[in-house]
Amino acid sequence: MASATLVVDADYLKEIDKARRELRALIAKKNCAPIMLRLAWHDAGTYDAESKTGGPNGSIRNEAEYSHGANSGLKIALDLCEEVKTKHPKISYADLYQLAGVVAVEVTGGPDISFVPGRKDSNACTDEGRLPDANQGFKHLKDVFYRMGLSDKDIVALSGAHTLGRAHPERSGFDGPWTQDPLKFDNSYFVELLKEEESEGLLKLATDKTLLEVPEFRQYVELYAKDEDAFFRDYAESHKKLSELGFTTP
Ligand code: HEM
Repeated sequence: MASATLVVDADYLKEIDKARRELRALIAKKNCAPIMLRLAWHDAGTYDAESKTGGPNGSIRNEAEYSHGANSGLKIALDLCEEVKTKHPKISYADLYQLAGVVAVEVTGGPDISFVPGRKDSNACTDEGRLPDANQGFKHLKDVFYRMGLSDKDIVALSGAHTLGRAHPERSGFDGPWTQDPLKFDNSYFVELLKEEESEGLLKLATDKTLLEVPEFRQYVELYAKDEDAFFRDYAESHKKLSELGFTTP
């Protein structure tokens, strides 16, 4: 059920400002930027542009959705966000999760991403299977991201979010980080991806490796590996799009 009462007035903006500061402190204290970013992505990444279902609407807070295999481990991030929600009940979950994603990128040294509040909460959980499967290749990535209304450039830029964090065997079955410093947001994901000899202990999923397979993806991998400013600029743009799928400013 969508809440019809969300009004973005001066008071709401003040609450957003306070929540932003609290998220900065919380993320720094708990070193939880990676899982907060993954939460924002998994709430948004269910979007279907045709049926206008899914998307950044807070539905992932419901057990029916966070219990999906793809969301394994994300209850940790939901509970961390709940600490902030309790202090700022006015803020929608949908806004809170996207704000947490933006702050996670910012506090780990990534680009500033513009954040527009006003997302309404929904309890309409999507069926399992809308998020990408890490064992597949470029065709699958295109199917999933085009369904959201995103482009080849968005796919590569957003994949660069794997500069943060790691895979956990008990969550996804995969193991290890993508980069040497998984708490620093930089372009090292692309630098590692282009290395012929894999660095020991680092992870490359099939969906990462496939970015080298087709020229329309590879051109961006090469650009972002040599030009971090270009990566930051495109990442900020693509992340904003992801965070606003299906969202029209109230
Ligand atoms: C982690 C798959 C795209 C952000 C993971 C994990 C998998 C995965 C399997 C490991 C989860 C675990 O074991 O804890 C994929 C696939 C993608 C994709 C197949 C398709 C392109 C993205 C995007 C973002 C993102 C677009 C954000 C914009 C993250 C982050 C982590 C992560 C930050 C680390 C979480 C942590 O350290 O707890 N991803 N992902 N991923 N993903 Fe992705």
